[in-house]
Amino acid sequence: LSVVVLAGGISHERDVSLRSGRRVADALTAAGHRVVLRDPDASLLPFLASERPDVVFPALHGSSGEDGSLLELLAALQIPTVGSTAEGARCAWSKPVASSLVAAAGLEAPESIVLSHESFRELGAASVLTVVRERLEGDVVVKPASGGSAQGVSIVESPDGLARAMVEAFTYADVAVVERRVFGTEIAVTVVDTGDGPRALPAVEIEPMAGVYSFQARYNAGETTFYAPSRLDDSVIAAASNAAVLAHRTLGLRDLSRIDFIVDREGRPWFLEANVIPGLTETSLVPLAIEASGATASALYSELVRSARARAA
Ligand code: DAL
Ligand code: MG
Repeated sequence: LSVVVLAGGISHERDVSLRSGRRVADALTAAGHRVVLRDPDASLLPFLASERPDVVFPALHGSSGEDGSLLELLAALQIPTVGSTAEGARCAWSKPVASSLVAAAGLEAPESIVLSHESFRELGAASVLTVVRERLEGDVVVKPASGGSAQGVSIVESPDGLARAMVEAFTYADVAVVERRVFGTEIAVTVVDTGDGPRALPAVEIEPMAGVYSFQARYNAGETTFYAPSRLDDSVIAAASNAAVLAHRTLGLRDLSRIDFIVDREGRPWFLEANVIPGLTETSLVPLAIEASGATASALYSELVRSARARAA
C-alpha cells in the first residue's frame, strides 16, 4: 500500500515526533509498503488531496496531532487514517477531561484540582496553596492540562515549590492540573486493535534512574530501565490491562493508544493519562510492548495500516 507517515509538526514534541516517524516509516518500508515521510505544513492538504495515498499514519505528538484538529482535516479528506478520530483525541488530549471520563467509568484517578492561568493570577499563589493544602494531602504533581513527554511536569514536595511549578506548567498550557502524587510503580499499557477489538499488550514497567520519568529519562538511552513485561504480579497486571482497555473504549480511542498508570503499594492501578499517538521512538514504550508480545513493529504497524484501509472500504 502507499502510506504517508506524518511526523514533525510544530508542537513542543516536534523532535520526538520526527524520531517516531522515522521508525514507523522504516518499519512500514520493511513490511513492503511504499512510504513517504512528510512534515505537515501549509501544503499538506493539497499534497494529500492530489497524492491520495492509501493510508495516512500520523506519528504526530502533542498539539500537532493529538489535539484532534489535524485529524479533523484528515477526516474531511476521506483518506483512511491510522489511529483515533478527532473526537477521541480531544477527549484524551485534555487530562482533566480524560480523568473524569475514566473515573465515571469506574477507574481510579488521583484527586486533583484544575486551574486556569487566569484564575491563578486572580487568586494569587497564596490562596491557591491554601486550597491545595485543604483538598490534597502530601506531595502533589503539577502538570499542564494537555501535552506530553512530561514537559512542564513537576513533583512538588514542599509548599514553597507550588507557585514555581504552576508557572512552569502554564508555559505549556493555559490550564494546569495539581494532582495528588501516588507513590508506586509506573507502568504503561499499550492497547491495540487491528480489527477484532481492543486488546492490551504486555505492560511495560518504568524505572527511571533518577526516580522521575522526566523528558531526559524518556529520550536518552540508558537513563531508564524498562521491564517488558512488568515484574508486577499477574493479578495486578491483569487489572491494569483491563483498566487500559476500558479507558481506551471509554475515551472512544481507536487502533492504538498507550494508557499510563501508577500502581500503588496495594496493587491498585491509578490512571494518569491516555496517549492518543504514543511515542514510537527507539526509547519509547510501545515498541517495547510490541516486542514483548512476540510481534514486530513492522508486522503490527502494517496490520494497523491494512485495518485502517479495510475500515474505509
Ligand atoms: N507524548 C509522548 C510522545 C509519549 O506519549 O510517548
Ligand atoms: Mg503522555
